[in-house]
Amino acid sequence: MTRELRPVGIIGTGSYAPPRVLTNFDLARMVDTSDEWIRTRTGIQERHIAEADVATSDLALGSARSALESAGISAADIDLVIVATITPDMFFPCTASLLQQALGAHRATAFDILVGCTGFVYGMAVCGALIGSGAYQRALVVGAETLSKVTDWEDRSTCVLFGDAAGAAVLAPVSEGGGILAYSLGNDGTHADALKIPGGGSRMPASEQSVADRCHYLTMNGPEVFKFAVRAMAESSEEAVSQAGLTMSDIDIVIPHQANLRIIAAAAKRLSIPYERFVRNLDRYGNTSAASIPLALDEAVRDGRIRPGHHVLLSSFGAGLSWGTLVLRW
Ligand code: UT7
Repeated sequence: MTRELRPVGIIGTGSYAPPRVLTNFDLARMVDTSDEWIRTRTGIQERHIAEADVATSDLALGSARSALESAGISAADIDLVIVATITPDMFFPCTASLLQQALGAHRATAFDILVGCTGFVYGMAVCGALIGSGAYQRALVVGAETLSKVTDWEDRSTCVLFGDAAGAAVLAPVSEGGGILAYSLGNDGTHADALKIPGGGSRMPASEQSVADRCHYLTMNGPEVFKFAVRAMAESSEEAVSQAGLTMSDIDIVIPHQANLRIIAAAAKRLSIPYERFVRNLDRYGNTSAASIPLALDEAVRDGRIRPGHHVLLSSFGAGLSWGTLVLRW
């Protein structure tokens, strides 16, 4: 990224999680697992699950309203809506279009980003370019998921990991020296099979067979993603921090993708950033894919851990396999 663009930063954040909570003990009554296994292997204790009649755009709406309120602007002021999700309400129209309508952001261009857990960071980078160039003025970027709808509740290797939630940020021009300083995005399609929903697309349209074979659920090679994640987070963080003209000791707070505490601990070690500077809330939400970073970001902004002048690092990885790290001055 070059800095010829005008500076763009976050002027408001919000989040929303459905009220129903599913604990590890609840899961131990559903599949062959235990609270002890889930806690020690992942750090997760509970997650929020949407009711049957609640879709991703409903969660997105809750987070968007709270982000607009914190930014002190109305939906009519937004000219760009981006939703990052792998669990859209339907194939099309995009979830951003449904959110635009529900929110009343009638002036806004709206589209989705489908890059798994990395989607929110990609959305931020896209906004940095589109607002930075002067083409747009105020954008809403939302990461929203109802992963419970694509979870195989008979597969203990995945069903203990995921949860439902949404997080949002309002982006706008900010004063010189602030906002997005640098980012590093990437993808390695050689690992495309490691994390996917095989059925329902043009490769394998929905059929009685695809349903019987459970092909519409999320599948994952956990250990492969784990190894990739630590390397991708570390390397892209090094690149983004150096592009920003900073060193790791300048980073005040890290918002990592909330997939596994062991991944976060390994990344902290590789980057030599104290573990305490990594925001962690996956104990209460599990892995919420594209929602995980804006959800944790909103929590850290609201409880005062993120303050003006702080250097904030957002770092994620996910389906693709993709990665994305972004450095901001708050
Ligand atoms: O958001 C991006 C996508 N996701 C991720 O980032 C996830 C990345 N990967 C991970 O976090 C970890 O790989 C997992 C948490 C998914 C799995 O942890 P692991 O330490 O890699 O475990 P494993 O898959 O190597 O399985 C170890 C053992 C196996 O048993 P055996 O073969 O050693 O007898 C599994 O069958 O743990 C067993 N196992 C379970 N046992 C109890 C797998 N899932 C469970 C479970 N409860 N829920």
